[in-house]
Amino acid sequence: MKHDVLDGVFSPKSIAVIGASNTKGKIGYTVVDNLIQSNYQGPVYPINPKDAEIQGFKAYPSILDVPGEIDAAVVVIPAKFVPQVAKECGEKGVKGLLVIASGFSEVGYIDLELQVVEIAQQYGMRVLGPNIVGVLSNSDNCNASFAPGLPLPGKAALGSQSGALLIAMDTASYTRRVGFDKMVSIGNMSDVNFGDMIDWLDQDKNTTCISFYIEGLQDGQNFIRAARSAQKPIIALKAGTSAHGAAAAASHTGSLAGSGKIYTSAFEQAGVVPAADLNNLFDRTQALSLQPPMKGKNLLVITNGGGVGVLATDAAERSGLPLHFAPADLQAGLKKHMPSFGSAKNPVDMTGMAGKEWYQDSVQFALAHDWVDGLAVLYCETAMTAPLEIAKGIKAAIEAVGAHQKPVAVSFVGGKDSQTAMRWLVEAGIPAYDAPDTAVDALAALHEYAESKKTSAAKFEPFVDVHEATAREIIAQVRAEGRTGMTEIESKNIFKAYGLPVADTRLATSEEEAVQLAENIGYPIVMKIMSPDILHKSDAGGVKVNVNGETAVREAYRTILANAKEYKAEADIRGIVVQEMAPWATEVILGSINDPTFGPTLMFGLGGIFVEILKDVTFRVAPVSPEQSIKMLDDIKGAPILKGARGEEPRDRVALSEVLSRYSQMIVDLGDEVNESDANPVLVYAEGEGVIVVDARVILKEA
Ligand code: COA
Repeated sequence: MKHDVLDGVFSPKSIAVIGASNTKGKIGYTVVDNLIQSNYQGPVYPINPKDAEIQGFKAYPSILDVPGEIDAAVVVIPAKFVPQVAKECGEKGVKGLLVIASGFSEVGYIDLELQVVEIAQQYGMRVLGPNIVGVLSNSDNCNASFAPGLPLPGKAALGSQSGALLIAMDTASYTRRVGFDKMVSIGNMSDVNFGDMIDWLDQDKNTTCISFYIEGLQDGQNFIRAARSAQKPIIALKAGTSAHGAAAAASHTGSLAGSGKIYTSAFEQAGVVPAADLNNLFDRTQALSLQPPMKGKNLLVITNGGGVGVLATDAAERSGLPLHFAPADLQAGLKKHMPSFGSAKNPVDMTGMAGKEWYQDSVQFALAHDWVDGLAVLYCETAMTAPLEIAKGIKAAIEAVGAHQKPVAVSFVGGKDSQTAMRWLVEAGIPAYDAPDTAVDALAALHEYAESKKTSAAKFEPFVDVHEATAREIIAQVRAEGRTGMTEIESKNIFKAYGLPVADTRLATSEEEAVQLAENIGYPIVMKIMSPDILHKSDAGGVKVNVNGETAVREAYRTILANAKEYKAEADIRGIVVQEMAPWATEVILGSINDPTFGPTLMFGLGGIFVEILKDVTFRVAPVSPEQSIKMLDDIKGAPILKGARGEEPRDRVALSEVLSRYSQMIVDLGDEVNESDANPVLVYAEGEGVIVVDARVILKEA
């Protein structure tokens, strides 16, 4: 049912233009003209209070006067009149309201926008926009927009939050040779969002790849859900990646979470291939819309020039697909198609003598070989060869082994003839680029797609031995005292309820008690100030480590108290925490924030200077399974330290990944209460010896 309604937005069979005009230069004129120019086959109903005819169509004063059914109403009248016409559209039974008009939430008129959405919901209509360029669809011959014309026909679909950029990409599709079936300007996303687009396009027979320009998602969880379940590749360029709210954040995690980092992780979790910039979005879209995924890591490069081969080799390493020497039988087969001074290793250099036949034979032989997962075919224009002939050889080879078995990307470096040949290749469904590194990056995108689809499919199985009710009781006590900052012991008790291994930590409210607890725990011990008003204990001189013996305990007790009072005279001091001193091990930090877009989000990094100075951390939208957590451990630059670098024993990555997974479950379960949290440091011991949370901090949401 929902899909039928969205047909009215993305593939309307009849269109009304509210605000259609006979005055050239008005958007209401251009939209009608564009429908004519694009040869739209369905009925067009211009709505205009004054004119009886608009650009050859019979016009109506109100949509309610139109005799036939209407799928979509394109709204090009000033914002303040939109609610009234929305109501009339609802009464008429319109499915999709395409609101081109600006002047809504983007300039602060949020209520006006909400009013339109509410009206639409009353009538079961969907709203695209407001503040959009419109919808363009080659398969529907429909340019319901004020963009200059339909894009170069092809199999990709573009959704863009920026209207101007959509128009630019529309015209650039011809020069960049990237074909699109649909381009959708999504505007303010008051109702129809990227998730809806994914759901609809995934069912659309005219689309093979979904491409997005994203400035910000509103419902990140819905986007992840839709992307994960999609069967088609999705590629996204995320703009606006500066850190947000960093200064105000109370915890480590908050200050480290730039929105860009979380988007990058969320895309990976959802199986979305990232684009680095606008050019990359075009190039990767071309590859993903035309070629199958690259299922393994074995990339073979075939070339007639050493230079482009070296450039491709460098690019392959940069893209995470480093070249390996081809196996002996593959080399032997390829050797037949080159002079004795050629090289069949990888890159395969057939030398400048290579013509159509050598290209055709070696591409065919390579694609048929089991070892090859993806193929980059490079060509430098020479006086002895005709680029178009080479292109024809490549195409014939691909067809001979069965197109769409393995991905191929081509790069021709040369002049006009090379350009013509590449245009011909793209029309034949073979991506072709000006530079060898771009062809390699295109294959990397196809490989990233295959890889991320594997991990994004992994399901999270909740741990059953957790005690959410206990955690909630602790939270309720803190709330009863009107606090949002939890003490270390309260925080640790919450962690304990989720099965996290925390260091034995007790509270002393007198010097005597501190001595007693220390003797029970066993020396040496750690002593720390406990005050809901002192979050950064070290800064307050509130931590003493390696405290050994009764005298030392008494002295530490007094010093810590004095320091804390000096740091913050009015601080509510609950006592001093006495804690077992865990033997040193590799320090890591775990943390969480409540991301405004994605909700509870988990952070992981190495502790100490790695987090303080290098900010070497990674994020995942929670929850994450232990298998996905292992990927988090591999993500950071310091990953080799946990694997056992420079003679160190490997650390207990298995125990750590379970801790990450349990932590992620905790922040999801308690997502309505917990705003931020840290486990810092967490000590990670050698393989099989586990991990221990030494310090913990939980900050609740404001009541
Ligand atoms: N029903 C039908 N037609 C109506 C109407 C109504 N309730 N109210 C007005 N109209 C007619 C007008 O008479 C006019 O037709 P005319 O040329 O025959 O006189 C036409 O609709 C347009 O109205 P007008 O008041 O002239 O507006 P406009 O064309 O100057 O501007 C918008 C309207 C929507 C284009 C403008 O308000 C706007 O939002 N522009 C920005 C669009 C944009 O940039 N979008 C985002 C891209 S990223």
